[in-house]
Amino acid sequence: MQNKIHHLAIIMDGNGRWAKARGLPRIKGHEAGSKTAKNIVKHARQLDISYITLYAFSSENWNRPEKEVQGLFHLLESFIDTQVGQLHENKVRIHIIGDTQRLSSRLQTKIEKTVEMTRDNNNIDLCLALNYGGRDEIIRAIKRMNQDGIPVDKLSEETLNQHLDTSFMPDPDLLIRTGGEKRISNYLLWQIAYTEIYFSDILWPDFDAKALDQAVEWFGTRERRFGLTSEQIHKKD
Ligand code: FPP
Repeated sequence: MQNKIHHLAIIMDGNGRWAKARGLPRIKGHEAGSKTAKNIVKHARQLDISYITLYAFSSENWNRPEKEVQGLFHLLESFIDTQVGQLHENKVRIHIIGDTQRLSSRLQTKIEKTVEMTRDNNNIDLCLALNYGGRDEIIRAIKRMNQDGIPVDKLSEETLNQHLDTSFMPDPDLLIRTGGEKRISNYLLWQIAYTEIYFSDILWPDFDAKALDQAVEWFGTRERRFGLTSEQIHKKD
């Protein structure tokens, strides 16, 4: 495979339908989804991927039934309580992107501790998008630039990049959306300008190492042109 994946981003869709198909409450789908997330992070590392960003809770997800929102946050907390130790042992560095201000102070504290504890790990960077929306991120970045006293005429792609939540990572090379829908849902809007996008019909809880291998194989067949012509690309070789 010629193309290297430095950064893999995933929209983990299909938990609700997975649960419904089994006559289970939606939260059981999210529980199964969090197990899948763990397995996929492990496999991503085996594939030599450096960064993986998972869309765990969007800024629009607050509009879901209160019981589901509470259940998701409970699950995220228990993910931190029960999984972070092992992730830390495996030298996973954890980051959060999104507006964490709206999260409970208890979760914010847990997040801060987790990020601090795993700061020096260097096996793989796992980034969880929490209360994340791409448009909101861009607005917050512009506000930060204003706070830093950067005048509008000094605005460049680079300065905006530096003020985004994702400033520490390269743009995603591959974005996977599971669950059959073909949309971006306000995810990493700025960062996916040249990202290859792979849609899978598999519901997230069923997405496994083999499914990731297939996506990676597809990625390997893509000709990444970044706005150039095919002839220009081949002349460069
Ligand atoms: C979309 O499926 C999924 C979510 C809104 C939440 C994703 C959260 C997890 C997988 C669990 C927590 C993750 C970690 C990493 C701890 P959906 O509910 O929209 O599914 P549907 O389209 O079938 O209804």
